[in-house]
Amino acid sequence: MTRIIDGKAIAAQIKDEVRQKVEALGREGKEIALAVIQVGSDPASSVYVNNKKKACAYVGIRSLAYELPEETTEEELLALIDKLNKMEECNGILVQLPLPSHINADQVIDAISPDKDVDGFHQSSVGALCIGRPGFLPCTPAGILELLVRSGVEIAGKECVVVGRSNIVGKPVALLLLRENATVTIAHSRTKNLKELCRRADILVVAVGKPKMITKEYIREGAIVIDVGIHRKEEGGLCGDVDFEDVKEKCGAITPVPGGVGPMTIAMLMKNCMLAVCGGRRDDGR
Ligand code: GUN
Repeated sequence: MTRIIDGKAIAAQIKDEVRQKVEALGREGKEIALAVIQVGSDPASSVYVNNKKKACAYVGIRSLAYELPEETTEEELLALIDKLNKMEECNGILVQLPLPSHINADQVIDAISPDKDVDGFHQSSVGALCIGRPGFLPCTPAGILELLVRSGVEIAGKECVVVGRSNIVGKPVALLLLRENATVTIAHSRTKNLKELCRRADILVVAVGKPKMITKEYIREGAIVIDVGIHRKEEGGLCGDVDFEDVKEKCGAITPVPGGVGPMTIAMLMKNCMLAVCGGRRDDGR
């Protein structure tokens, strides 16, 4: 029987753990606040931002909401980040992406203090992950690792194939799996013989952004499949980068869409905010 990896339940468990730690910090007089900045009113971004605010309320983190107009200049945004970097009561800063095209997102991310970079997107956080130094982990990749670990999937020595090489998911998840002593291959749009390559994977992570691209021909019997994609279907409902119905009998375990990787991102963001206050930037123990 194929196991369904229940990201919703695991995310709920993590949020409850964070909530307890936030309560304990509160008893020591330590409050946590996350600044959430949205520029413009992209509807998808508004949904994500609202979900982040709701999660903050649930775990007991104060959210400082900055909803800025589309015409906000880069200088204005950088000035706000500078102010928040210096604001002692603000522990984490999140700038919702994408930003309007007149703003250089790299400049903005680099302006966030690495001590408040709870998204883990700053070049210093990415570099720290790369060379095994303390730093915030990006939330979706950290969530994928947590899903595997909490589902009892052994990673060390396994063949992992990551399809997709984005800075937000593909590259950092490959680094995290490597840190766990897996043998990791990153595949992308120019990879030759993608099906054969994917069929070598004990653990297949798919973050390509193409609905239902991965069918059973890409899957090794019994493989663990992590689907990072999320797409709206024409007929309504959501689907991932993996054709769930097609692969589900062949794989050993799979994350559904919705309810797999998605809920983990916000849970790990809450955990990063909590870690920002504990001074550790991350607890990896691993
Ligand atoms: N846009 C889509 N995903 C994310 C995310 O994880 N963080 C931020 N800041 N923006 C996003």
